[in-house]
Amino acid sequence: MARIPKDRIRQRRDGYPPRVRRGSPPAPGRTPPAERQPLPVGRRVPTSDDLEVSTYLEIARVREGEEPVSPPEAPTPPEAIAILDFGSQYSMLIARRVRECRVYCELVPHDAPWEQVARLRPWGFILSGGPASVYEEGAPMAPAYVFESGLPVLGICYGMQLLAHQLGGRVAPGQRREYGPAMIYQADRSAPLFEGLPSPMPVWMSHGDVIAEVPPGFQALAHSENSPIAVMGNGAGLLGLQFHPEVVHTPQGKRILENFLHNVCGCRGDWTPSSFVAESVRRIREQVGSGRVICALSGGVDSAVTAALVHRAVGDQLTCIFVNNGLLRREEAERVIATFRRHLKMNLVHADATARFLGALAGVTDPEEKRRRIGETFIRVFEKEAERLGRVDFIAQGTTYPDVIESASSGSSAAAKIKTHHNVGGLPAHMTFTLIEPLRFLFKDEVRQVGVEVGLPEEMVFRHPFPGPGLAIRIIGEVTPEKLEILRAADWVVMDEIKRAQLYRDLWQAFAVLTDSRSVGVMGDFRTYGYVVALRVVTADDAMTADWARLPYEVLARISNRIVNEVPGVNRVAYDITSKPPGTIEWE
Ligand code: XMP
Repeated sequence: MARIPKDRIRQRRDGYPPRVRRGSPPAPGRTPPAERQPLPVGRRVPTSDDLEVSTYLEIARVREGEEPVSPPEAPTPPEAIAILDFGSQYSMLIARRVRECRVYCELVPHDAPWEQVARLRPWGFILSGGPASVYEEGAPMAPAYVFESGLPVLGICYGMQLLAHQLGGRVAPGQRREYGPAMIYQADRSAPLFEGLPSPMPVWMSHGDVIAEVPPGFQALAHSENSPIAVMGNGAGLLGLQFHPEVVHTPQGKRILENFLHNVCGCRGDWTPSSFVAESVRRIREQVGSGRVICALSGGVDSAVTAALVHRAVGDQLTCIFVNNGLLRREEAERVIATFRRHLKMNLVHADATARFLGALAGVTDPEEKRRRIGETFIRVFEKEAERLGRVDFIAQGTTYPDVIESASSGSSAAAKIKTHHNVGGLPAHMTFTLIEPLRFLFKDEVRQVGVEVGLPEEMVFRHPFPGPGLAIRIIGEVTPEKLEILRAADWVVMDEIKRAQLYRDLWQAFAVLTDSRSVGVMGDFRTYGYVVALRVVTADDAMTADWARLPYEVLARISNRIVNEVPGVNRVAYDITSKPPGTIEWE
């Protein structure tokens, strides 16, 4: 493949600009809804139901002045794609789609040095979209190695504009911002990128700038009504798309990515999470040697899969610590113990610290204060249990790839989350463990696939996310044992009915919230004065945005009837019909 001569690549004179920050102001004009309301990055844990536990520990270590450990490198699979992140809200989605095509990829900052990318031995590059305009002062450019490598490059939206701008074409502001559905018409039906795809074809546009002139050697491969150059290519592996193939609104977008990966980059597409993990297990064994490992179990999928993997690698050298904070749902603690101790035969320490947690929460009504106290108590309990075990060398955590990406975009992950857990105290200085994070490069759905493979029960692997502070943030106002009982009973009904209606897997989360409002009702001949329970059921692809689920009326009716009849103290059920944004999924 022809290399692009260095003097034809436009670069900023003063080196590479600082990273584009997520949530930078969007270009003027019509703005996509998700960009209109900046999301509260860092306030909550966006993806992982288990991260809470790891976050407490991470912050505790940072508090003690421990140097951040350099992250372990992923085992490099034979084929990989490097995705350069220019700050689009869809960057992570591109990575997910590429993985769905069974090609390993990593999302790296747009200014990543070559050494960071070379480790992957990439077969091609994808340049993501981004909020900047290429002709703006200080706009981020693609590093020279992208073009000098001679490897295929797919530029998406801003990424396409970079190809045009840096290789001698011309980008200009469009007449108006194009946002929403569009049809593209292929000019060259034999282009490898279009294999198996119809013309015209629906796509999703979101851009302000347009390509006014393609760079030398390029031609327009497709147009839309508003973009004469909706797709361009040079016949030698450099391609640009004005639209977003990664979003669901481009129905055949995955096929376009697949065509790029297979037909242009030459990838076979034989990567699977399990092949990756087999290699990880080998590495864990090598890293741990005869050392001892602990793992904090929360009952969620990430820590469960981590524990199961580390157990597979080093067996009894692993001890899991399950801190029962008394804020779990009905039968949850029993299930964790049964799965890990009896079924998987792991060493499990069950620390039932219910009384201690409830004591710490007595009289507390502020949600962030609840979180802070739960975090602090967790660390103190964990510390005591870990100390009892004697010498421990490693700690295994269920950090997943979205957590890694989020933290890379916001500095240190601990720093980003410290806002929520601002006063979690440190672990004692003698407690320094080396970190093992076998899921560090996997997406949630991949973690689940691995979970099934290592023999975890489906119920655990496909569990909905559950927040670390548990039911404490679903009880508005003070947390008391009585209120916990009421909420557990209501939550049980919700879960039971959702599962009975076979809706569980279609939903992101479904739960009850115990409000601090009471209302008047009648039951038989009696007037009642009871709590109002709110039902929160949402659909989502990730927790950054969510919509309230359009549950069938019959299901809503059954849930409401059963809660009012079966849960003493509750006489009214309300359904929360707020999407996120502007609402959050949890009420606190
Ligand atoms: P929100 O309420 O911010 O929730 O829309 C997004 C996702 O994060 C979960 N969540 C938490 N998870 N600790 C956690 O581990 C927390 O403090 C916390 N708050 C919210 C929530 O359940 C949803 O999945």
